[in-house]
Amino acid sequence: MTTSPFLTLHELVKKARQKLNHDNWDYIVGGTETETTVRRNRLALDSIAFQPRVLRDVSRIDASTEFLGHSLRLPVFLAPVGGLEHFAAEAGAAAAKAAAQFGISHMLSSVCEPGLEAVAQAAPDALRIYQLYVHGDADWVDAMAARAIAAGYDAFCLTVDSAYYSRRERDLAKRNIRRDNVPGREFQARFTWSDVARLKSKFAIPLILKGIATKEDAVLALEHGVDMIYVSNHGGRQLDHCRGTMEVLPEIVAAVGGRAPIMIDGGFNRGADIVKAIAAGASLVGIGRMQCIGLAAGGEAGLTRLLEILEQEIRLCLGLLGVNTWAELDPSYLHPAHPVGTGGTLDAFPLLALDEKSFY
Ligand code: FNR
Repeated sequence: MTTSPFLTLHELVKKARQKLNHDNWDYIVGGTETETTVRRNRLALDSIAFQPRVLRDVSRIDASTEFLGHSLRLPVFLAPVGGLEHFAAEAGAAAAKAAAQFGISHMLSSVCEPGLEAVAQAAPDALRIYQLYVHGDADWVDAMAARAIAAGYDAFCLTVDSAYYSRRERDLAKRNIRRDNVPGREFQARFTWSDVARLKSKFAIPLILKGIATKEDAVLALEHGVDMIYVSNHGGRQLDHCRGTMEVLPEIVAAVGGRAPIMIDGGFNRGADIVKAIAAGASLVGIGRMQCIGLAAGGEAGLTRLLEILEQEIRLCLGLLGVNTWAELDPSYLHPAHPVGTGGTLDAFPLLALDEKSFY
C-alpha cells in the first residue's frame, strides 16, 4: 500500500494547480494562438475506442519494454521540457532522478536547468537523451553533440518543429514574455536536411528528429539516416491548426514500415492513452505537461507517484483488453469512436471538481 497522499492523477493535477501561480500554470497548459492543435491532440485520442478480447489468461501482465539496449518499466519517456526550474527546485535533475528511480527514459531539454553535465551526474544510470534547440552555427551544434556524447547520453535529439517561436497568447496577454529573444535563435530557422546529414556523418550517437508530423518527412528522415522518428506537434505549442498526433500516427507507422522505432507525444495524459499509441504502432510515448504536473505537485516524489499511477492504469488496461504483453497488441484493438470531450487540456480529468460537488 502506498504512503503517498495521491491515489488518482486528478489529485496531482489539483495539487499542481494549487501550488503554481497563474503565469506558470498557463505556461504549462497553454498552446499557440487558438489552441486548436492542443485540442486536436486530445480529440484524436478521445476518438479511439478499445475493442477488448475476453476469456484469455491475463494473469502475467508485463508492461515493460526494451529501448536502445535498456530495459524500461513502461514504454514511456519524459518529453523534453524547458524551464522546469519554474516548477521544481532541482528542475531537470529532479525529472531525470525520478525517471531513473522509476525505470523509464528521460529526455533533457537544452533550455532546462541545471544543464546536461549536472543532469547526467544526477542520474548516471538512466536511459538519457539530450534534446537540442539549434541556437548556434554548425560548429556550435557539433560542440553540443560532442558534449552530450562525453556526458554519456544514449541518444541526441533535434527539435525540428520550431523554426520560429510561436505566439503563446496566454503568455502574451499577461506580458509574460519568455523566450522570444534567445541569442542565436535565428540559426534554428536556417537549419535544413543537409545539417541533419552532416551531423549523422560526424557522430555515431543515435539521432532522433522531434517534431515529425507527416509521412513524407518521416521517410525523408529515414533517407537521411535518422535512427528514431519522434512524432510531435510540440503539444500544440508551435504551429496551430495541426492534426492530432494520434491521427497522423498510423500513416507514419505505415510509411516507416518497421525501419525505425517511432516515438510520439501530444495529449497522452492517462494510461489508456499510452496503450492506444503502442497498439497503433508507436514504441515509446512522451509525457510533457504531465511531467510538469508531477513535479509541481510534489517534486521528484510527485513525479514518481504520477508514474506509479500511470503504470497501474496501463497494467489494468492491458489486462482488461485481454493481453499480457505489448507484443500481443495491434490496431485491431482500436476502433474509431465519437469523442466524449471537447479536447481541453484537462478533459482527461473529469473528476477534478469531485470534492466540491459531492453529489456529482
Ligand atoms: C515543452 N516542449 C518542449 N519541446 C522541446 O523539444 N524542447 C523544449 O524545451 C520544450 N519545452 C516545453 C515546455 C513545456 C512547459 C511544455 C508543456 C512542453 C514540448 C514537449 O516536449 C512535448 O512535445 C509536449 O509537451 C507533448 O505534449 P503534452 O504531453 O504536453 O500534451
